[in-house]
This record gives sequence, structure tokens and C-alpha cells, in this order.
Amino acid sequence: MKKKILEILKSSNDYVSGQELSRLLGVSRTAIWKNIKSLKAEGCEIDAVNNKGYKLVAQPDIVDADTILPLLNTKVLGRELFWYNETDSTNTRAKAAGETDGADGSLFIAELQTAGKGRRGRSWEAEKGTIVAMTYLLRPDIDIACVSRITLVAAVALARALAQIDGIKPQIKWPNDVLINGRKVCGILTEMSSEGTDINYVVVGIGINVYNNSFPPEFADRATSIELENGVGYNRSKLIAAVTNEFEQIYNQFLENQDLTFLQDEYNSLLVNRDRQVYVISGNERTEYTALGLSPDGGLLVRTANGEVQNIISGEVSVRGIYGYV
Ligand code: BTN
Repeated sequence: MKKKILEILKSSNDYVSGQELSRLLGVSRTAIWKNIKSLKAEGCEIDAVNNKGYKLVAQPDIVDADTILPLLNTKVLGRELFWYNETDSTNTRAKAAGETDGADGSLFIAELQTAGKGRRGRSWEAEKGTIVAMTYLLRPDIDIACVSRITLVAAVALARALAQIDGIKPQIKWPNDVLINGRKVCGILTEMSSEGTDINYVVVGIGINVYNNSFPPEFADRATSIELENGVGYNRSKLIAAVTNEFEQIYNQFLENQDLTFLQDEYNSLLVNRDRQVYVISGNERTEYTALGLSPDGGLLVRTANGEVQNIISGEVSVRGIYGYV
């Protein structure tokens, strides 16, 4: 009922009387009034004027499967969609489904995560409704050594989706942080379950800062949100659909031979590290290089001080001028 009322109000530029709503929906005016009250409690701004009726002034950005599904042009990703008003972590939900019969491509989305996880055991916290928190469950038939490349594929999908927003120019900090104006706007946490070299499942968890404008102190000087960058944010359901469409397209290309050569040019054009001095921190060691670009196996090609080219496979990378390294 609430949804129907909302649809009617959304499609009308003017006030709609309670009488008209009760006629269209075949319910009493008291029922209409109760539902309007409930919509207001959910955050909808509805102007109510005697003798005129109701007018929708503003609607909160609630992530909604009914909005996402028609925007998907995917075959597999997001076709099974699980939405939570509140859950521990969408990665945890996806992994639980992975342990049972969860379908390849299932998408788990939450308005609030009470135990959101970041990389390196950190937590990933945000107020309800301010971010996109979503996780794909994948069952790829690939070499286990290539799984980490899926994260790079997801980073490019995120960059493509963000680039569709007016005024937003995303970049990637190798391997998979997505930045706007040098500050992190998305994080990706990929986790895998395997037996020996057999992959049971992979989950790709994505957090996108959309409306949040304050961050935990340790990230405050290096994080941003879409709203902080463009002043208005962006409809999260549309964003989820755009990321999912882009991700499936690039992921399918990747699955063909699990090599990232096809993505190198695009990745490098987005790469904030490119041609810049980078420190690669591995354990207690810190080495300075010039970053050159992505290697087909997902590593970062760098030039050493004596001109030798090396492929960095993993390690924390700090880029001069980004995140306070000057
Ligand atoms: C990072 O540390 O950069 C990765 C952050 C990943 C956060 C997302 S939010 C949705 C999904 N569920 C989680 O618990 N974590 C990921």
C-alpha cells in the first residue's frame, strides 16, 4: 500500500487529495492517512494541506530491489538479490550462502552493517543509509592463483560506474582503492574459500561512500564521499546497478583466459600511481620506485633507481602526494 501511494505521489507534480488516493487504491481515507504517516516516519517529506491533499517533496535514498532490477542488463550478477535493512556484514552473509547452495552472482546489500569489515582486519563503519555496502558471491572456475585479479576487475567496474556521475572523475590506486581527488571513495574486500587448489567460492565486498561526510579518525584525511565531491551524492540503487552491469562485463572478459592484458590500457589510464614515485612497504622494508602500470598478472610494474623493471605482486603502496606522502 505504502509503495502504491508513493508511486502515485511521485507521478504527480501537484497535490493528490486523500479522497482521490482512497478511490484509486480502494481503501478508506483513514488507511491512506496511516500510510502517509508511516512514509513520513521512514523519511519521506510529504506536504499535507487541508482541502488539497498530499504532495511528495523529497524521498530518502532507500536502496530498493525494485529500482535495481529493471536497471540490470546482466545475465548472472545480481539476478539473486538479498537486501538487509540491518546485518552484520554483507561479506559474512555472502560467505554463509557460499557455504550452502547460494547461486553464482548472488548480490547481498545492506542499509546498515553492524560488523562491516575492511582489509587487514580493520572494521568498515558507516551510518545507516549513507554508503553502498554490497557483496557478490562468485563461483569462478579459474586457477586459484588468479583470484586476486578479480579485485582489480571490480576496481575498474567501480571506476566506470562512478565516471557516469556528473562531476566525478575517479582514479585507482593500485591495487584496488578507488579515489576521487586523491581521497578514497570505495574499498573492496575479496575473500575466498578453497579446498587445496579448488575454489569453493569467492566473495567480493564493495563499500562506496555516498552520503557520509565524517569518517573514523584514522581515515579522516584520506577519505571522501560522492556527496562531498559533487554536493548532492547519487542514487544508491542506480549506482549498484551501474557497478553490477560494468562488473559482469569485465568479469566475463577476465574469465576467458584469466589474464588482464585486455584491461591494461584502461587500468593505466585510471592509475593515480602512474609515472609517480611510490614506496612499496613489505613487512619492515620500504623501497622507492617509479610506478609504470599494471602487469597482466595484476602486479604493479615499477622501475627501480637503477632503471630495472620489476613486477610488484603485493604489499602496501604509498604514492607521493597521495594520502599525505610528500
Ligand atoms: C577496504 O578496507 O578498503 C575494504 C572495505 C570493504 C567494505 C565493504 S562494505 C560491503 C562489504 N561488507 C563488508 O563487511 N566489507 C565490504
